[in-house]
Amino acid sequence: MNKKINFILCFLTLSLFVHQLAFAQQKYASFTPGKIWKDDKGVHINAHGGGIVEHKGTYYWFGEHKIEGEKGNTAQVGVHCYSSKDLYNWKDEGIALSVSDDLKSDIARGCILERPKVVYNKKTKKFVMWFHLELLGKSYEAARSGVAVADKPNGPYTFIKSYRPNAGKMPFYAAGTPEAEKVNCENPANKSDGFFCRDLPGGQMARDMTVFVDDDGKAYHVFSSEENFTLQLAELSPDYLSHTGKFIRIYVGQQTEAPALFKKNGTYYMVGSGCTGWAPNPARWFKASSIWGPWTYMGNPCQGPGANITYGGQSTHILPAPGKKGDFIFMADKWEPKNAIDGRYLWLPIKFEGDKLTINWQDEWNLSTFNQ
Ligand code: DGJ
Repeated sequence: MNKKINFILCFLTLSLFVHQLAFAQQKYASFTPGKIWKDDKGVHINAHGGGIVEHKGTYYWFGEHKIEGEKGNTAQVGVHCYSSKDLYNWKDEGIALSVSDDLKSDIARGCILERPKVVYNKKTKKFVMWFHLELLGKSYEAARSGVAVADKPNGPYTFIKSYRPNAGKMPFYAAGTPEAEKVNCENPANKSDGFFCRDLPGGQMARDMTVFVDDDGKAYHVFSSEENFTLQLAELSPDYLSHTGKFIRIYVGQQTEAPALFKKNGTYYMVGSGCTGWAPNPARWFKASSIWGPWTYMGNPCQGPGANITYGGQSTHILPAPGKKGDFIFMADKWEPKNAIDGRYLWLPIKFEGDKLTINWQDEWNLSTFNQ
């Protein structure tokens, strides 16, 4: 009898070992933009419109969890989190912020929850997640910003509130801003000024977005506003949980989406896209010597074949590359609106030619590119 039990136990252990060998996820040592990218469980990473925060040597990637089909572009699950030590291989950390089954919740299942970005607040020791929120059944009408908070990077995140930023506040103008660029709500000069003034009492629309933390610990929320005609860059409170009321408008009336920001040698850089729904369009970049502007439009950073459509992608985040200071990775989404879960990721190295930011397509690359 004992022999029989021993035999069964041996057989089960061996089967488990063989199973693990067969299904162990192959280790990645490079990036292959646009290809399926599997997590530690062998499943294509599900973190679209995402961003990355580094904490104590580990990277945490947050993004929209999409499901199959067109409905997959609505939030049926929440914000997915993955972790990695090397940026190539990602461990599934599960859902960091779940949508709610309470239909009255701002983040009710089926709402639209896009472009989540997490930042760490050194003073409060909290992880703060901001995202673009559209209320259930209201299409893209609400244009709100949502905020959630957690004690640990991988969550769980607790939803706090959603609203339109900076109600009743007029923009801040850096010294030297020409009169013509100032909004006059008595007599709006263009369409975008008109939307700005319309939304003044209730707060500004906030759709595609990112959050940027400066070297001094101050955080800024950048979002497509004014019916997507103009970007706004707004200061967050010291706890990062609300807006202070100080903000600027960038590239008025030019329809910039998908903002991603970084700072190099004291200069601020931003990459964004045009505004063509899920379809790709040319990327655009800006630079500024102060966060408060003026932000100068610099053209398309992409070069070579596919540059006119950002190689099929749309910016979502720019990540400081590990190791050497001053190198950055451009992260973009290649959307699949008809089968949202199949969306792909385009990560490409950012190179500087003098002061000029450039992005080039690569079928496959690794971090050693930054040593060249
Ligand atoms: C483009 C935006 O960048 C996406 O986040 C999403 O809002 C789509 N538009 C919706 O059409």
